Amino acid sequence: MTYRKKLIEVAIPLDDINRESAREKSIRHGHPSTLHLWWARRPLAACRAVIFASLVDDPSALPEQFPTPEAQDAERERLFDIMRELVKWDNSNNKTVLDAARAEIMRSTDNNPPPLLDPFCGGGSIPLEAQRLGLEAHGSDLNPVAVLITKALIEIPPKFAGKPPVNPASRGRIGAGQDWSGARGLAEDVRYSARGCATRPRSASATCTPRSRCPGSTAVARPR
Ligand SMILES: C[S@@+](CC[C@H](N)C(=O)[O-])C[C@H]1O[C@@H](n2cnc3c(N)ncnc32)[C@H](O)[C@@H]1O
Repeated sequence: MTYRKKLIEVAIPLDDINRESAREKSIRHGHPSTLHLWWARRPLAACRAVIFASLVDDPSALPEQFPTPEAQDAERERLFDIMRELVKWDNSNNKTVLDAARAEIMRSTDNNPPPLLDPFCGGGSIPLEAQRLGLEAHGSDLNPVAVLITKALIEIPPKFAGKPPVNPASRGRIGAGQDWSGARGLAEDVRYSARGCATRPRSASATCTPRSRCPGSTAVARPR
């Protein structure tokens, strides 16, 4: 198979990628960075864009389809439009946007996309985004915390994909039109267990360490 030049070797919509990468830093709900601190985490938007552009052919590599510079520019702009939507945080689970990106990857890899390996995966951003784009993803790291975070991101959720939760509080809602697609069921179980982890130690410690009373003038409300 002859090598075809990839989009990343020619041009990518850097302004859009940079803007969305910067925006992502302020997202505090649902972002993997809230799972556990990882110091050198790369923005997901940048990872998503780089993986996509590394796999999709640049139009100049397809002269029979895009014979002129103008035709190549027009096709490149079409691919950029896909990337502009792909890098938005709000589109992380947008099926239409992801399907469009996956279709381009399949087209450029003759329906046989390569697996991705990040041997220094840290917080798992690159394997996570590879998986989102439909690739078989692998990661490794010498730091066990990094390995645990990455397992929680890319190894455990697929095992429970589409399955309903098993905790007793949520089981009553099974079959009541509830949507358990993706990792929703797993997330419900994690929330249930986390609530238990938060309340049990508090009530256990209340019996052995009674709250002390401070004189009114010196008591300061402790922020929660
Ligand atoms: C810059 S971080 C990777 C960040 C990651 N791409 C992310 O978005 O979270 C580099 C990682 O390489 C790991 N590392 C360094 N030397 C290594 C080695 N010899 N084998 C495996 N991992 C290594 C570090 O533990 C660190 O997690």
